[in-house]
Amino acid sequence: MPSHSPLTPLICLCFKISEAEVQTAIRSGARSLKAIKKKTGAGDGCTACRPLLEECLIRVRQEEKEAAQPPLR
Ligand code: FES
Repeated sequence: MPSHSPLTPLICLCFKISEAEVQTAIRSGARSLKAIKKKTGAGDGCTACRPLLEECLIRVRQEEKEAAQPPLR
């Protein structure tokens, strides 16, 4: 299980997984809640963080989509 950095907020309290760790997992290919759980362990306890994990997934996808678009003139 990844170690937690005290400088980033936790997204999964059960397994002490930070938001940064989840973002890294998404950017390295975890494209579903199941994949995030498999890669980080987050979301497999009380399940309270699952909506936050899904929000994080949507946010990272949106950031990637915006970064891939050419700049407006
Ligand atoms: S807070 Fe993530 S499984 Fe409980």
